[in-house]
Amino acid sequence: MQAESVQRVPTTRRYLMCPPRFFAVDYVINPWMDPTAPVSADVAVAQWTELRDTYRRLGHTVEEIEPQPGLPDMVFAANSGTVVDGRVLGSSFRAPQRAAEAEHFRRWFVEHGYRDLTMPERINEAEGDFAWTGKLLLAGTGFRTDPAAHAEAQEVLGVPVVSLSLVDPRYYHLDTALFVLTEADAGTDTTAPQIAYYPEAFSPGSQRVLRRLFPDAVIATAADAECFGLNGVSDGRNVVLPLEAVGLGAQLAERGYEPVYLDISELRKAGGGPKCCTLEIRK
Ligand code: ARG
Repeated sequence: MQAESVQRVPTTRRYLMCPPRFFAVDYVINPWMDPTAPVSADVAVAQWTELRDTYRRLGHTVEEIEPQPGLPDMVFAANSGTVVDGRVLGSSFRAPQRAAEAEHFRRWFVEHGYRDLTMPERINEAEGDFAWTGKLLLAGTGFRTDPAAHAEAQEVLGVPVVSLSLVDPRYYHLDTALFVLTEADAGTDTTAPQIAYYPEAFSPGSQRVLRRLFPDAVIATAADAECFGLNGVSDGRNVVLPLEAVGLGAQLAERGYEPVYLDISELRKAGGGPKCCTLEIRK
């Protein structure tokens, strides 16, 4: 497929983000976290602000939730809710250090008029492990989200869920190994969803499922994955990526996407990237 032949059309998005004013790496709940390495909340805030302003420059709406002292990972808003068609499924964290975040986000949704809100019974790290393709909810498990949370999400959100098994502890959330580039057009069957993913992060069976569902997917390399390139955020045309993800960015450009590179190095010290900081509110 040639770049010139595809006109990628962005759609405006609504995001919820949390400024990392209390950012730190005080505990270890994934292989990227090293509490002995220096971390700066100021640098994290600067990188986060650039991300927020980039979304706004691209025409998206960004809502902000107030960060809380003692919750250094609260910046990773993606882990706190899955919203499809205005229905909100909250979160329930595996790590006790993050458990209190769920209630802050629940309250934000209530205060902002989201009446259709359910808190999960199972461990559910929300968009960290759930990716909406416009047709299907891809759901990761293996490290964080309980497989029973996949069935719960299907029941609560009323969308078909496809379970995928993650096998590499560095790629502990689905959103570290896969993201949606273009969603299927709601209502019509004309636009097929497109994704990018790193196959080695998935079990052999899940790799076969992904090949079957997305024969035209962008296949990322180990280098793309290691810099959190699969933690990208696409609006259908513009794709926000960590600045190191040049290989992936080149593949996307060949397919008519517009890579937008940002420095997320400070946030990566906690095992996060652009998508982790971004909860999408789908009307
Ligand atoms: N330190 C956080 C954790 O391990 C990072 C979360 C990153 N979020 C994400 N959606 N992958 O839970």
